[in-house]
Amino acid sequence: MPPEAPLSAAEPAREAARAQLERLWARGRDFLGCEAAIMGGAMSWLSERNLTAAISNAGGFGVLACGSMTPDLLEREIAATQALTDRPFGVNLITMHPQLDDLIRVTLAAGVGHVVLAGGIPSGGAVRAVKDGGAKLVCFAPALVLAKRLVRTGADALVIEGNEAGGHIGPVSLTVLAQEILPHIREVPIFVAGGLGRGEAILAYLEMGASGAQLGTRFAAAAESIAHPNFKQAFVRAAARDAIPSVQLDERFPVIPVRGLANDGTKRFLAHQAETVRRYQAGELTKEAAQLEIEHFWAGALRRAVIEGDVETGSLMAGQSVGLVTSVQPVAAIITELVEQAVAALASRHTIATPL
Ligand SMILES: Cc1cc2nc3c(=O)[nH]c(=O)nc-3n(C[C@H](O)[C@H](O)[C@H](O)COP(=O)(O)O)c2cc1C
Repeated sequence: MPPEAPLSAAEPAREAARAQLERLWARGRDFLGCEAAIMGGAMSWLSERNLTAAISNAGGFGVLACGSMTPDLLEREIAATQALTDRPFGVNLITMHPQLDDLIRVTLAAGVGHVVLAGGIPSGGAVRAVKDGGAKLVCFAPALVLAKRLVRTGADALVIEGNEAGGHIGPVSLTVLAQEILPHIREVPIFVAGGLGRGEAILAYLEMGASGAQLGTRFAAAAESIAHPNFKQAFVRAAARDAIPSVQLDERFPVIPVRGLANDGTKRFLAHQAETVRRYQAGELTKEAAQLEIEHFWAGALRRAVIEGDVETGSLMAGQSVGLVTSVQPVAAIITELVEQAVAALASRHTIATPL
């Protein structure tokens, strides 16, 4: 390493680095219509009008989480978001929502340009409805074979989310998914997600062929997030190792893995499963009733943590990137920090390569 780069060499190096970053995520920026190809991953209860608009206003791309909202509620939330930003943002809909068709209809009628379909491979009908309505369709690809299928069926962009992420997770890390998928899909832009908290990491995936990134956990603790102060403080205090997937006790009763901060609720969930399995074995519950008992344990728990601040028994969904949350920052500061980290990493190469 040379001692310190001469000032005269540092500025051109930063300018070159900025230009290089623009080139690396140009496709993502064009697709999203924003300055930094950083999507705010939709988070139920958190990604409402304020956080979504704040991310878009700061040059990223906010995504509203529909979660279990009714079409009426979603319509109102979209209008409220549009009142807070004139920049593009997306809407994330869960494919198994019973009113998916109506949710797509109100989203398109409101003029939203990007629809993210999450929670499973979307039906042909849902894909057609989004595309016929003129919106761009973003889907989650959990493996190469599904990525290819989604591109064939009409996805305009893909998110590949590693199991470092917060919330519902698949089994594969982003490191591996990126190697499996990025070299083979060139047709559409791909956004990487899961465990990302610094610009250098985003840069590494851009250089592997990604067009942008999606972050959830860092934005959950942002100043503009409506999360209860207890929820944000839990994120600030937590280390990466505290964000663990939910544990399934008995293979007869599957548990969808959700990554979140360990707390009293996660301990009680194990005890609840053990007690439910005991009742099933004693003939007190049918298999279906026992499965429902287990599934209902977390009902309302994310809302309890996010809105009411119950960090003991609520669900503190968080990615391993929670270890990189060190304070409650405004969204604009988070985005600037990520961009500057990527630029600095690129600039250091230029500086080293520049002859004195
Ligand atoms: C609290 C929380 C709630 C989430 N809820 C959803 C959701 O409703 N729909 C969805 O598609 N993804 C959801 N996610 C995943 C995020 O959109 C995003 O992909 C993920 O947080 C990225 O990983 P990171 O948390 O390490 O940044 C959620 C994540 C968190 C942390």
